[in-house]
Amino acid sequence: MTPDADHPVVLVTGATSGIGRATARLLASNGYRVFGTSRDPTSRPPEPFPLLPLEVASDESAAACVRRVADATGGRIDVLVNNVGTGILGAAEESTAAEVRALFEVNVLGAVRMTNAVLPLMRARRAGRILNMSSSGGTASIPFAAYYCATKFALEAYSEGLRNELLPLGIHVSVVAPGPVSTPAGDTAARAAHPVADYEPARSKAADEFVKAIRAGMDPATVAEAILDLVRSDAPAPRRPVGLQSHATGWARRLLPVRAFQALVRWAVGRS
Ligand SMILES: NC(=O)c1ccc[n+]([C@@H]2O[C@H](COP(=O)([O-])OP(=O)(O)OC[C@H]3O[C@@H](n4cnc5c(N)ncnc54)[C@H](OP(=O)(O)O)[C@@H]3O)[C@@H](O)[C@H]2O)c1
Repeated sequence: MTPDADHPVVLVTGATSGIGRATARLLASNGYRVFGTSRDPTSRPPEPFPLLPLEVASDESAAACVRRVADATGGRIDVLVNNVGTGILGAAEESTAAEVRALFEVNVLGAVRMTNAVLPLMRARRAGRILNMSSSGGTASIPFAAYYCATKFALEAYSEGLRNELLPLGIHVSVVAPGPVSTPAGDTAARAAHPVADYEPARSKAADEFVKAIRAGMDPATVAEAILDLVRSDAPAPRRPVGLQSHATGWARRLLPVRAFQALVRWAVGRS
């Protein structure tokens, strides 16, 4: 798909920070007609694309957001980038079911809501692309970030099924799986609500390492470039790892026996 006179329409969720903002800016500068979203667009500085209100945990908000784009474009959305995602750091036992449910509402059901809202438009045109933002944590579940990784595993399984349902209708689904990216996401990740002493000091150390790795991660522009490639490709890859860490995680998962792979993950977070 190349940007031409009729400017393909791209909707990027969570376009006020990190990967979403870099992606929306890059696509806009390459001639795409981009719409971004924010939970509170009026509080955000102007961008070279309009920001629409969206809370992905709300059915009504997702439907209203897509309706607004469709109204502005005559019903056309060529690409949906389901970028919004957030995290919880802590041992699995330290989170309540309510916290975990809230995370799934955003990271998994947020993508489901947006996808279900755009699909009637894409099916009508027998064309479209949906890009779901996973992570290297979508192939390796990291201790003390188990629920974040569980949402990304779920998003990957959802995307795989969706892709095979939609390909015959001319709609491509891809997963983007970056390693650590330098954004505020580590610093803003929630902490599990009920600390259990037995997990100290390992949990604090793992959480600190996680936050540090994200601060020192790759430039969000690198992920944006990978997304631009997927948008332009005639045959977009089902899954696009971004960065060495994500590629290495995928290779290790495929090549190592399960016990060896999990021992490697424990070693990587100092839990062996
Ligand atoms: N950073 C990394 O190392 C990394 C690595 C791999 C994958 N990822 C994934 O990449 C995606 C983006 O991460 P990021 O690091 O760029 O995050 P970020 O900088 O924290 O940005 C998150 C964006 O999502 C929006 N947002 C947050 N909660 C929302 C909600 N409930 N409803 C609607 N919008 C919401 C925020 O906008 P407002 O506050 O304006 O609403 C913001 O624009 C996530 O899916 C994340 O899991 C990140």
